[in-house]
Amino acid sequence: MKLSVIGCGYLGAVHAACMAELGHEVVGIDVDATKVTGLSAAQPGLYEPGLVEILARNLANGRLRFTTDYAAAAEAKVHFLGVGTPQKRGENAADLAYVFAALDSLAPYVAPGALVVGKSTVPVGTAATLETRLHEVQPEAALAWNPEFLREGVAVADTISPDRIVYGLPAGDQAELAQALLDEVYAQALAAGTPLVVADYATAELVKVAANAFLATKISFINAMSEIADTVGADVTKLADAIGYDARIGRKFLNAGVGFGGGCLPKDIRAFRARAEELGLSDTLTFLKEVDTINLRQRERVVQLTEEALGGQLMDRRVAVLGLAFKPESDDIRDSPALDVAVRLHGLGAEVACTDPKAIPNAARRHPQLHYVEDTFETLRDAEAVLLLTEWSQYRELQPEALAEVTSGRIVIDGRNVLDPARWRTAGWTYVGIGRS
Ligand code: UGA
Repeated sequence: MKLSVIGCGYLGAVHAACMAELGHEVVGIDVDATKVTGLSAAQPGLYEPGLVEILARNLANGRLRFTTDYAAAAEAKVHFLGVGTPQKRGENAADLAYVFAALDSLAPYVAPGALVVGKSTVPVGTAATLETRLHEVQPEAALAWNPEFLREGVAVADTISPDRIVYGLPAGDQAELAQALLDEVYAQALAAGTPLVVADYATAELVKVAANAFLATKISFINAMSEIADTVGADVTKLADAIGYDARIGRKFLNAGVGFGGGCLPKDIRAFRARAEELGLSDTLTFLKEVDTINLRQRERVVQLTEEALGGQLMDRRVAVLGLAFKPESDDIRDSPALDVAVRLHGLGAEVACTDPKAIPNAARRHPQLHYVEDTFETLRDAEAVLLLTEWSQYRELQPEALAEVTSGRIVIDGRNVLDPARWRTAGWTYVGIGRS
């Protein structure tokens, strides 16, 4: 099929490349000429495992191209909207300016019988507004909502083999056209038995924000338990294991630590609350404010634990921070808890050396005041305390005996609860986890 993907950021670039990989003919369109030039050379400007390879393969075989020219969308049968919906400055609500601008620029090139498919995370009600706007220009085209659930770090696999597909179809007689075209796009995944939920616009929009709100709530729940565990001397990881064996609860997303970050969970729970307030349901999602507060408190808690471990004094103390990205296998530092903790420690006078396998360039651009070191052992040299804040596998596998040869202190703050406390303590370290006292 001929497809266009509007917006070539994280979501759009991955989607365009994966659709080409599945055999479709794809044009990716973005207003940012630098991004288009990079993508056209298989340089996405972000680290996502496997993405460069599928970009290169599909650019070479001619199924994929990128341009700034919306006219290139004219031949496509299905157009995906994958632009960003960031948090508005100084507000909780999502900024829909990019979504509306993309739809308005695209609409003149949408042919009769074609389909526009929204993938961006939007406040419920947006699809209906976009449909009206599309029909003002092209009444013969349909609009559907098809939320994206990809996780950074495994985005390629999540797009090619999703765990579920959701269609939000139009209310009228265009539903059939929309479903037929979407079925054709996702023929391979559907044939493989991927669960499909067919719904209306509002349900499809809500599925996405509800999923992210649930995940965020799960993380803040276990982080709240970790605070209690620290106070009473319990172990939150064992607690998570034990409740996780209950299939109704499940063990995933019950890892206590420095909390959630990234370009999605934090902004999505805020935008969801803002939308509920607009709908006159201001009490309904107030718990998400608490989810947000618990999450942000974890960062402060890690700073406090570091200060306590260093005897109550941070000024001029040498601290090594392992990990800057918001999660492993990503160079994304948006709302990263790890980077935030590093910045706070620096602000309190500590001498912070930090490292990350992929995120140093992004972090250095945002926070040039920090001291960045490429090599892990050089980062650790003479450190009085070591903080593990993003659980890259190379940090999880660090040997306490080897570390002890370069650090000056023997304090490790395990901000992701991924190290074995007994092993580190036996090697002479003061081990501080989150809720594992
Ligand atoms: C999240 C969702 O998981 C995806 O399904 C969704 O498509 C995406 O947002 C989006 O809206 O686009 P992502 O932001 O890539 O994906 O990251 P997650 O894997 O959800 O992790 C989010 C944060 O939670 C990370 O900072 C991670 O370290 C943290 N986390 C995760 C915990 O602190 N504890 C856990 O147990 C799990």
